[in-house]
Amino acid sequence: DAVPVLCIDGPTASGKGTLAAAVAERLGYHLLDSGALYRLSGLAARRAGLEPEATHADAIAALARKLPVRFTADHRVLLAGEDVTDLIRSEQAGMDASRVSALPAVRTALVALQHSCRTLPGLVADGRDMGTVIFPGARLKVYLTASAAHRAERRHKQLISKGFSTTMESLRADLEARDARDSSRSVAPLKPAQDALLLDNSDLTVDQSVDLVLSWWQDKQ
Ligand code: C5P
Repeated sequence: DAVPVLCIDGPTASGKGTLAAAVAERLGYHLLDSGALYRLSGLAARRAGLEPEATHADAIAALARKLPVRFTADHRVLLAGEDVTDLIRSEQAGMDASRVSALPAVRTALVALQHSCRTLPGLVADGRDMGTVIFPGARLKVYLTASAAHRAERRHKQLISKGFSTTMESLRADLEARDARDSSRSVAPLKPAQDALLLDNSDLTVDQSVDLVLSWWQDKQ
């Protein structure tokens, strides 16, 4: 593995994004937020007037294959030049992402873009199937979990701080619906890779999780 890859997979709001960004920063590696690609595909579909469902799979896949996306150095996400960083974080965008991501043609359409993120000095990849499908030969695979209650609470804080209004009950219901769909789909379902190390961060601080993953990474060198 000339270009090392560290995968962090896990369910919605398990803290993957925060952990992956911190680990990438500490290692000086590139970061792939694969969930953003599904969120962008969902948004592109909506804007093209396509419901995120199977009858439109090919049309949505065509949009996903040539997503005009750019990730800026200051962590903004641009779609055809428009800053959609906050827009793609809404619960609606998450649900749409989950729906388009269940379409096999859309998953296939996004493979090349994800592989192209693997460049020196290395990559931290965050998602659902990084270790199982996209980078099966990754040097380290972490499967991150936290209880549904912890995840709902974190997502609640996150959304409130971004000015979205929401309740814990509806969030928890959304999380559970999204987990169920992500785990039961036939293509690339959410599950730990056989060789993944499991990390339950319910009772860990972000720094503790980061240190643990970095120590696992050291052990792999
Ligand atoms: O991680 P995030 O919440 O941004 O992902 C949004 C949705 O995209 C997930 O609910 C999941 O359905 C889908 N996804 C996926 N495979 C990935 C990353 C995200 O199916 N590698």
